[in-house]
Amino acid sequence: MKITVVGAGNVGAAVAQRLADKELGNEVVMVDVIEGMPQGKGLDMYESGPVEGSDSRVIGTNSYEDTANSDIVVITAGIARKPGMSRDDLQTTNAGIVKSVTEQVAAKSPKAYLIVVSNPLDVMTYVAMKVSGFERSRVMGMAGILDTARFRTFISMELKVSIEDVTAFVLGGHGDSMVPLPRYSTVAGIPLPELMDQATIDRLVKRTRDGGIEIVNFLKTGSAYYAPSAAAVQMVEAIVKDKKRILPCAVYLQGEYGIKDVVVGVPIKIGKNGMEEIIQIKLTPDEQAALNKSANDVKANMAKLSL
Ligand code: NAI
Ligand code: 2OP
Repeated sequence: MKITVVGAGNVGAAVAQRLADKELGNEVVMVDVIEGMPQGKGLDMYESGPVEGSDSRVIGTNSYEDTANSDIVVITAGIARKPGMSRDDLQTTNAGIVKSVTEQVAAKSPKAYLIVVSNPLDVMTYVAMKVSGFERSRVMGMAGILDTARFRTFISMELKVSIEDVTAFVLGGHGDSMVPLPRYSTVAGIPLPELMDQATIDRLVKRTRDGGIEIVNFLKTGSAYYAPSAAAVQMVEAIVKDKKRILPCAVYLQGEYGIKDVVVGVPIKIGKNGMEEIIQIKLTPDEQAALNKSANDVKANMAKLSL
């Protein structure tokens, strides 16, 4: 397995390190526009192999030649939020970056699976799919795993139970209109509404929706990268090991959930063929309305693109 990470900044470098530590790729390539930085980080990571017991060969580069024939490419290139910015404020700049990156990646690795991380996530996943010309099963966005991880953390903190027993469900775009579904979120199989009152659920849902900006406001110079990198690597691992995990990922819908021609987060089966199935669950009218609104918000931003 050869895995390329585009963008060697906070998220990209953390993704590469986790990939190497878990030995998910025998080759891990980090590519960035900044001269020297990916090379330095790459060599530093490679030198942690003897300590970690990993034979992953990590290299950093400024050239797409080195990325040729990658099996999986994780795209993290782009600018991140600062306090006061929404994810949508990044769209114009990042659409240009993701377009140019995808053109180069697709030319060198025409058979790769693309995992997009750059924000605004759903729109950037659409850009990568459109520009690469790859089928939708090979282009997936990472956001739902992060949003559910945040929701799971807050539930675990509230109930003082092991994170291992908490599952959570979040649908929709990676934005203010994301749709956490308490009904499908459980502790050891017990639905959340049986374990806490509505006011508490509402508070945790709000904290989940605001999870990204909570970190931005602490860091001030950028956004989250530890949990985001863990989430992106979970998608890589599902493909590499053909795990058939059911994970919330952003994919291009073509009628599923009654939604068409838009990228939005839904549960998918992810394995060696990328997105192998979209899992459709029954929603209440309120949940469906919230998902429709979230999809329409993404669609409105997609309409602003000039590809
Ligand atoms: P960062 O600023 O630390 O790193 C971004 C890197 O991209 C920089 O090293 C920069 O030189 C590089 N870059 C810019 N243009 C490039 C190009 N044309 N080719 C190759 N590399 C290029 O930012 P960070 O924190 O790593 O975030 C990256 C992106 O991921 C942001 O857009 C951020 O909003 C997004 N993000 C998305 C998450 C999600 O849940 N989907 C979670 C966390 C971050
Ligand atoms: C987050 O939710 C920045 O979108 C990223 O942390």
